Amino acid sequence: MMQETMGLIISNEQIADATYRMEIKASITEAMTPGQFVNIKVKEHLLRRPISIASIEEDAFVIVYRIVGDGTRILSEMKKGEMIDLFGPLGNGYPIHEEQKDVLLLGGGIGVPPLYEVAKRYRALGKTVYVALGFDRKGSVFFEREFRKLGCQVVVATMDGSYGTKGTVLDAVEKAKIDVDFVYSCGPMAMLKAIEARYQKGYTSFEARMACGIGACMACVCKDREDGKLYHRICKEGPVFAIGKVGFA
Ligand code: FES
Repeated sequence: MMQETMGLIISNEQIADATYRMEIKASITEAMTPGQFVNIKVKEHLLRRPISIASIEEDAFVIVYRIVGDGTRILSEMKKGEMIDLFGPLGNGYPIHEEQKDVLLLGGGIGVPPLYEVAKRYRALGKTVYVALGFDRKGSVFFEREFRKLGCQVVVATMDGSYGTKGTVLDAVEKAKIDVDFVYSCGPMAMLKAIEARYQKGYTSFEARMACGIGACMACVCKDREDGKLYHRICKEGPVFAIGKVGFA
């Protein structure tokens, strides 16, 4: 059940260029599933920011965010011991398929974090987890070691070729000859489009398209791919949808 609550900041540290990891102690972790998000009120800013949940612990959770404006800059300056106003967990996350023997997780930039909890769940079930992470350049890379520590097979791509394979996550998958057809993805729209053109099974998170995050602004509305009259709000019915469910137009 979603609710408004106050969380206690346990840590808040920079892990890559303009990218921060914050751990928050809160009472709402029990209700969280991988791929969901929380809406965070940042001090004097009235607008809440939807930020995806990267890792769920017993009484704490982790978010990873990029500084994109004033709200996230203020968030990056908050210190251990401060309280933070949370609303969540929100949205529908990634279902876990116990019958799969292996899965491939495809994350681009700030779309990487929600896949971390998915990897944790599959590794806890003893499954083989392949992970392809895509970033702009070497300085933006994060979580490669964290996924390896879980026992995942990890490949990295950067657009400028300064680290790992030059190109996209799909280039890295091809180079490593990873032949798994059940995928979980999250990242920029161009990346998701390329993934949905190639894979038929699995899930995509469209969280990059969210604005208010609570179903009020309609900025995130998208068409169902089969029923042209049916619309979905990414923040309410999503952000995770089965591959092929939602149109890109
Ligand atoms: Fe505002 Fe979905 S982001 S309605």
